Amino acid sequence: MSGERRILFLPGDGIGPEIMAQVRRLIDWFDERGYGFVVEEGEVGGTAYERHGTPLPDAVLAKAQEIGTVMFGAVGGPQWDDLPFHLKPEQGLLRLRKELGLFANLRPAMVFDALVDASSLKPDLVRGLDLMIVRELTGGVYFGEPRGIEELPDGEKRAVDTQVYTTPEIRRIARVAFELARGRRNSVTSVEKANVMYSGVLWRRTVQELHDREYPDVELRHMYADNCAMQLVRQPKQFDVIVTDNLFGDLLSDEAAMLTGSLGMLPSASLGEVRADGRRNALYEPVHGSAPDIAGQDRANPLACILSFAMLLRHSFGLSAEADLVEKAVAAVLEAGYRTADIHTPGTTLVGTTEMGSRVLEAMGRLALA
Ligand code: IPM
Ligand code: MG
Repeated sequence: MSGERRILFLPGDGIGPEIMAQVRRLIDWFDERGYGFVVEEGEVGGTAYERHGTPLPDAVLAKAQEIGTVMFGAVGGPQWDDLPFHLKPEQGLLRLRKELGLFANLRPAMVFDALVDASSLKPDLVRGLDLMIVRELTGGVYFGEPRGIEELPDGEKRAVDTQVYTTPEIRRIARVAFELARGRRNSVTSVEKANVMYSGVLWRRTVQELHDREYPDVELRHMYADNCAMQLVRQPKQFDVIVTDNLFGDLLSDEAAMLTGSLGMLPSASLGEVRADGRRNALYEPVHGSAPDIAGQDRANPLACILSFAMLLRHSFGLSAEADLVEKAVAAVLEAGYRTADIHTPGTTLVGTTEMGSRVLEAMGRLALA
């Protein structure tokens, strides 16, 4: 049925199921209003490993490929730390990214007015912060060959990882950044280590060439990754869109997340190429992890997951007004003083995962009627 909006739910481990349950309630809310979402569910991560001996069963991968739109919770936990590398929960996520061709990872870092004080930086530095990290997600040192640990003749060991990028890989991620910037404040900062890495030299040159040829209207700066890490805490509002490789993007997006006061607030989208039929594979997940220490206690902050669902509405189904509604509802709930434990401060109202979900739904109802 072409009217259906299909989504594959992969709750995963730890707090994954609890936060995804709140998204499920939002989907029900939309369905009651005729949106026709169809949700299927699969196992991934340690949970999948326990049941099927692999962090990403073939059937789940096939489903993801068929449906193309994935809502992802979180994976990982201490009980799986000692598994061989290829069986670790994280491999389920990495393989999904790779197999679905999700090369563009969008990680917004924005500070909600109500949470300005939750940041470890001075309020003036972060008030109104709204930056977007565009992280390359299917290349670089995460996947480069050769990689592995080998034994040396003298009994010692040697480990190798390979940082590798081709010009087409650099161009396609840079293009995503330039396009996004045009819809924002029109500024891109491209980040690498061209002072020490050949891949950085090629990155810088390729981004500049693409800019000069196709995006001369967008402001472009280049910055070394270490400087960028420093500038992010010194003057974060200087950035609009940051485009960078897989590993630097991993680090800088955690740092940017912390600027906002809570990792529990940040959504992400991972997008594939737009195909001939106009569709693109996409996976949406909170930036935070599986937080096994608080799993099952109704303490997790579902807002990053809920905001990831807003990104899904916007990027996979073109439902921008609906995405705005969800984001405004989240802002309203924060304004009203409701906080999960991770962002709780004196004078605000502590709520659990489920109640936070209820508050967001309530706000959506109110805002939709307004
Ligand atoms: C992230 C995570 C992952 C990564 C892990 C879980 C493999 O840190 O999404 O940022 O390193 O990409
Ligand atoms: Mg990370």
